[in-house]
Amino acid sequence: MALAGTGVFSEIIDGEVYRYYADGEWRSSASGKSVAIVNPTTRQTQYRVQACTQEEVNKVMEAAKVAQKAWARTPLWKRAELLHKAAAILKEHKAPIAECLVKEIAKPAKDAVTEVVRSGDLVSYTAEEGVRILGEGKLLVSDSFPGNERNKYCLSSKIPLGVVLAIPPFNYPVNLAVSKIGPALIAGNALVLKPPTQVYDSFGIFNSFTECEGLISCVTGKGSEIGDFLTMHPGVNCISFTGGDTGIAISKKAGMVPLQMELGGKDACIVLEDADLDLVAANIVKGAFSYSGQRCTAVKVVLIMESVADAVVQKVNAKLAKLKVGPPEDNSDITPVVTESSANFIEGLVMDAKEKGATFCQEYRREGNLIWPLLLDHVRPDMRIAWEEPFGPVLPVIRINSAEEGIHHCNASNFGLQGCIFTRDINKAILISDAMETGTVQINYAPARGPDHFPFQGLKDSGIGSQGITNSINMMTKVKSTVINLPSPSYTMG
Ligand code: G3P
Repeated sequence: MALAGTGVFSEIIDGEVYRYYADGEWRSSASGKSVAIVNPTTRQTQYRVQACTQEEVNKVMEAAKVAQKAWARTPLWKRAELLHKAAAILKEHKAPIAECLVKEIAKPAKDAVTEVVRSGDLVSYTAEEGVRILGEGKLLVSDSFPGNERNKYCLSSKIPLGVVLAIPPFNYPVNLAVSKIGPALIAGNALVLKPPTQVYDSFGIFNSFTECEGLISCVTGKGSEIGDFLTMHPGVNCISFTGGDTGIAISKKAGMVPLQMELGGKDACIVLEDADLDLVAANIVKGAFSYSGQRCTAVKVVLIMESVADAVVQKVNAKLAKLKVGPPEDNSDITPVVTESSANFIEGLVMDAKEKGATFCQEYRREGNLIWPLLLDHVRPDMRIAWEEPFGPVLPVIRINSAEEGIHHCNASNFGLQGCIFTRDINKAILISDAMETGTVQINYAPARGPDHFPFQGLKDSGIGSQGITNSINMMTKVKSTVINLPSPSYTMG
């Protein structure tokens, strides 16, 4: 209850149950029911959130439609001003918001503060980028197309879509919420947010957008009651989702609305013989084990040339031995994974690899949701971990004999989010990047989404659409044209 305890956010709680946010107010559901949020470290119920009804969702949608009409008429510079204010409030409250992240999702304390500051910067940048790209339109004249005279002038500009449904994931609840809220608002949309199941307290951030009454709402509840109801709601004009393969189900059910989906990855790290091996080891550890591997962009499989594999495995093991494992409050590097079922899933992948003969570089160790970092060497394609995404501190190493073998494994995955290549040969790096079927390839650096204005997109089961501040603003708008028709020149000029 870190935010509720600050005074500024005290109205977000009703006894033991967090309120939902609609029409500029924190409310209790008429259902009288609530959903438990479990602390990943203690595995005890930390608090509860409202179980909203479908009727309440309908009211939220109606209010959003009304508020959006007025918001779309609000001058762009005023929308930008509001986002700048929200960014400042976010940063001012970075400590209590970060405290929520530590408690709710076991994010290491330092990373939690970084996430909030990054989010404030994202919102400010979105305000500025919005002013730049939405302040511009286009003028076309007709006589460039065969058969036309110069008597038609087409004026185009970008207009909002209406109501954006935002569903952020548990691992970046603040950053990936504002990466949807910011672009939606600057473009003149309203927004309804459904928080991830494991998170709520940090959504006191809605108070950062104080002047947007009715324009943004936050609804909570049971997936069975409001999940499909929200995603298939006729009031929704756009869906921006980050998370797991639920996104595939959503995209099959959603109506004829633009979709922005980021659905995970099996990011490959291809290491060639000429790579800087210290750089490789540092990036593997940071890329695969930061936030205990619970990042879509984490390195999830190392594809390394046999000749340098022993040396890199040794360097990585030395670094893993130094990682601090424990509770997030102690700023440990490796903290409990988010749920017991996640921990069980990871364990299933590890046991499968054990049965099929992978080499364990460390002893497998688990206490509750806390799993010690583990490197699995000599992994083969018949093992589940060669293909599945553990979302935990467990990394498979597959030894290869050619770059082509690495590219083949990368492309055989159903995912295609990011990948990385380590080599000193830039020509080879570019050729391999071109051959890899992923939305982004990093050369000599671990996969990462940021900086947040870079395009970010996945191929295949990793997603639809492209994110990054500019792409998100564009995605949450559509083009409107007005054509001025003049009398034909031959008519007026004789
Ligand atoms: O898992 C969320 C994904 O977007 C990763 O972000 O910043 O850790 O690369 P980042």
